[in-house]
Amino acid sequence: STDTPKTDLYKKDIPTPETFQQVLKEAYETFKGVNEGKNADYIPFLAKADPNLFGIVIATVDGKVYEIGDSKYPFSMQSVSKVFTFAHVLQTLGSTAVEEKIGVNATGLPFNSLIAIELNETRSVNPLVNAGAITTVSFVPGNTPEDRWNQIIGTMSDFAGRPLSVQEEVYRSESETNLRNRGIVQLLDSYKKLGSDPLESLDLYTRQCSIEVTARDLALMSATLANGGVNPITSKRVLAQNYVPKVLAVMLTNGLYEDSGTWAYQVGLPAKSGVSGGIIAVVPGKFAIATYSPPLDQAGNSFRGQKAIEYITSKLGVNIF
Ligand code: DON
Repeated sequence: STDTPKTDLYKKDIPTPETFQQVLKEAYETFKGVNEGKNADYIPFLAKADPNLFGIVIATVDGKVYEIGDSKYPFSMQSVSKVFTFAHVLQTLGSTAVEEKIGVNATGLPFNSLIAIELNETRSVNPLVNAGAITTVSFVPGNTPEDRWNQIIGTMSDFAGRPLSVQEEVYRSESETNLRNRGIVQLLDSYKKLGSDPLESLDLYTRQCSIEVTARDLALMSATLANGGVNPITSKRVLAQNYVPKVLAVMLTNGLYEDSGTWAYQVGLPAKSGVSGGIIAVVPGKFAIATYSPPLDQAGNSFRGQKAIEYITSKLGVNIF
């Protein structure tokens, strides 16, 4: 079947520790002083983050972690969370159901676009923009919101290899100001696109965006994808291997919103960003890179983070194309 994974890809040609340490240092020193972009301001809590924070972490499929800068600073996952709930729903509902009920095509539009919902005849979007991510959350199976929340936080924790929890202040800040997302769920509900109650789904989505991580956590979460679905430290299988290419494909086509095409062209790695300033990028079979730096460009992607990942990718020659 087309789902058959290329198992021989895994754990081959991983750069040496010295190479990783050197390239991390270079990327950090090169972009530390770059002061472009600005913090997200539509979520009040995020506007207050120190714009100088900057951390880069590489985690390999054989469980080694290399880090520099503010790699242990806690922040909320925001849109990076979308990848892992997508993975969970893919695994519980299956690939065809995700394609039909949520959609996997690129929107080419901003992450919070309402037009994207209107433009698609079947009103599916994709799991990595707000409309599709809320739809994804609405399809997490379970009888109560608590049931579904436990699966979401459990999935995130398994990917990270440690128990994660919510940053309550971010959750409150975002719940009070998420008027646009309330518009999105009403529109989705009017098209009967949601698998469960609209406001309950929005609340779970907002909570998942508020989950606290460090760049190190994000590196291990994405290294689990690089490692075919097995966490490289705990050795727990978190995602069946045949779903990993599906997740990475949607990351490649939608991970950086309307800039996803430019990103694929310039960097050539599946990646995902979040408005708090995190980015993950996956080199299948080898390693993953996670960055944290709050100032964002026009599309909502961390400015320094993109630069650092582009630098590391080109130095190590790991563009997948
Ligand atoms: O729903 C929102 O707007 C935020 N919780 C997450 C958006 C996000 O991270 C988009 N990233 N660039």
